[in-house]
Amino acid sequence: SCLGLGRRISSKKAMNSSEHHLRHVQSISAIHSTSSCTEDEVVFPDPNFSSNALVSSPTDYLDMYRRSIQDPSGFWSDVASRFHWERKWPAGGVFSENLDVSKGAVSIEWFKGGLTNICYNALDRNIQAGLGDKIAVYWEGNDLGQDATFTYNQLLPKVCQLANYLRDVGVSKGDAVVIYLPMLTELPLAMLACARIGAVHSVVFAGFSAESLAQRIMDCKPKAIITCNAVRRGSKLINLKDIVDAALSESANNGVSPAVCLTYENHSAMKRDATNWKQGRDVWWQDSVPNYPTSCAVEWVDAEDPLFLLYTSGSTGKPKGVLHTTGGYMVYTATTFKYAFDYKPTDIYWCTADCGWITGHSYVTYGPLLNGATVVVFEGAPNYPDSGRCWDIVDKYKVTIFYTAPTLVRSLMRDGDEYVKRYSRKSLRVLGSVGEPINPSAWRWFFNVVGDARCPISDTWWQTETGGFMITPLPGAWPQKPGSATFPFFGVLPVIVDEKGVEIEGEGSGYLCIKNSWPGAFRTLYGDHERYETTYFKPFTGYYFSGDGCSRDKDGYHWLTGRVDDVINVSGHRIGSAEVESALVSHPQCAEAAVVGIEHEIKGQGIYAFVTLVEGVPYSEELRKSLILEVRKQIGAFAAPDKIHWAPGLPKTRSGKIMRRILRKIASRQLDELGDTSTLADPSVVDQLIDLYDS
Ligand code: WT7
Repeated sequence: SCLGLGRRISSKKAMNSSEHHLRHVQSISAIHSTSSCTEDEVVFPDPNFSSNALVSSPTDYLDMYRRSIQDPSGFWSDVASRFHWERKWPAGGVFSENLDVSKGAVSIEWFKGGLTNICYNALDRNIQAGLGDKIAVYWEGNDLGQDATFTYNQLLPKVCQLANYLRDVGVSKGDAVVIYLPMLTELPLAMLACARIGAVHSVVFAGFSAESLAQRIMDCKPKAIITCNAVRRGSKLINLKDIVDAALSESANNGVSPAVCLTYENHSAMKRDATNWKQGRDVWWQDSVPNYPTSCAVEWVDAEDPLFLLYTSGSTGKPKGVLHTTGGYMVYTATTFKYAFDYKPTDIYWCTADCGWITGHSYVTYGPLLNGATVVVFEGAPNYPDSGRCWDIVDKYKVTIFYTAPTLVRSLMRDGDEYVKRYSRKSLRVLGSVGEPINPSAWRWFFNVVGDARCPISDTWWQTETGGFMITPLPGAWPQKPGSATFPFFGVLPVIVDEKGVEIEGEGSGYLCIKNSWPGAFRTLYGDHERYETTYFKPFTGYYFSGDGCSRDKDGYHWLTGRVDDVINVSGHRIGSAEVESALVSHPQCAEAAVVGIEHEIKGQGIYAFVTLVEGVPYSEELRKSLILEVRKQIGAFAAPDKIHWAPGLPKTRSGKIMRRILRKIASRQLDELGDTSTLADPSVVDQLIDLYDS
């Protein structure tokens, strides 16, 4: 066992392990070169695609991968040197890491001492390289015919005006700014403006409730909040300003009051007269920002200065503020974007994610813009006005790279091929998937119907915490197996460990960990380094623990099998069962709640809640609705339970611990797999729960 040993790449033991790892990877070359291979689960890349790809074969990959593992400093310093550094990191100091809690505090640093700015690298640097007139953003609104275009030359002055405004209202380096916006161009623009002045943005997905927003505001105490008055999504109108007002009054009651609430007037959704307003605190974006100068001096920041906070759910407790820093994140998102999508300067790239999630940070905003790419930003819903909208957008902008989530693929697949076939889609050349394992049937539909069997699929496994792709195909390099995320990105050493933390070599399954640091890794949980260590580095000493299960097949391909903790993945959104439970329990008539994930045809997982009512309260349809409403109110509509199961009691051990294993089986009707129930304090609760299936 390697448990407890140093994880420095330079240590002899770790080097041996990485060589073991390289051996798994090498076995793939065998498949690739066997043209007689008849394994029907393998999809070979088109040789024409491969010959033009950045990485053309498993051998090319292996050469680069080997170097990235054996000489991480050399590999990453070469990559990083392509960016602008106002001052380079000190010689010999590319990175330092300690992932081993037994050796002291966990710490990860990349390019420390180097001075840079990610906004400068995404905009100014590209303009200097001659890309000024290239389109940076195609904005497509909710309604057909609503659109706008921004070149790099047009984006920069807008970012500068907002940056100057923020400085003027007192935001300076290190201050937090909360952004609560839908997918207007102003959202990535606001992120870049914060980065330009060294402010730390914290984007909150605009589907979160007032209470969730308030919780985040109270945690990071922003100097300013940026929002808009309203948005239309599909046929629904959402009054965001009212949500922000409610959140700000809640946070004010707890002593946290951002100085300004900068509000963009999204006039196609709502006129300013109809917007509730608090004089002195609220400012219309359109009245103030355009008055500021169109150039703005860059705040040069240390590579290890924070860039952003993004809250994400854990299995217990309140949301965690995942903190990413500047230099490593910049280098990592740009590089992963380039290779995992085989990016070419002529590409038109569209990622359907919202900037409220990590995917929108790394692969709508930073990764693509750092590459000087043209990005489609879509405000609306993918099935509005009908299920052909995505392909309408693909044809309209001649999208070449289309990156989305399995849940969308499944829902469009259900709606039928006609919606797809109505459009040409001939511009497409690379497809991508993220958020949850993509089931092979959805993979095949995506590949055959959407991509006309022409476009490789990058099934990218990563997390809010990892900043960028960790296990991903490189299009054209690999024969693909539908449903497998394939192999690690450069510089990443994934290992599969058993419950004792012993690495499993070759074929096998267990817990997915990473045994080294990579530039895009998160550095801490905001204000709670101890929780960072406990959650991610203590379960298996010396490793970063992902929370996911994974198996590796005989050819070294990785197959993610989903969360092994109490995190539920609904349509690629991470929801902590504890958060839903606490929302339910706050309902006056709910005595106790236990929430588990169940398989859901479209959403991947659905939320199944067992609810015990206060003594004497009868079950009713009305109560069911009001419990669901409580969750929508406290977290957001996307976390609403799919099923409320009335529970006279919950299965508990004698020490009072709820046995979720049994609840999961009851929820998924796998009654023959309940396992041993004899250790329960009261085994009869199981029968009572089953009796109440259809109530
Ligand atoms: C969790 C992270 C990373 C962006 C979106 C979600 C699951 C993500 C895949 C994939 C299998 C995946 C994992 C992971 N996940 N991508 N390609 N295959 N599972 O970010 O909210 O931080 O969630 O999403 O379970 O741990 P997140």
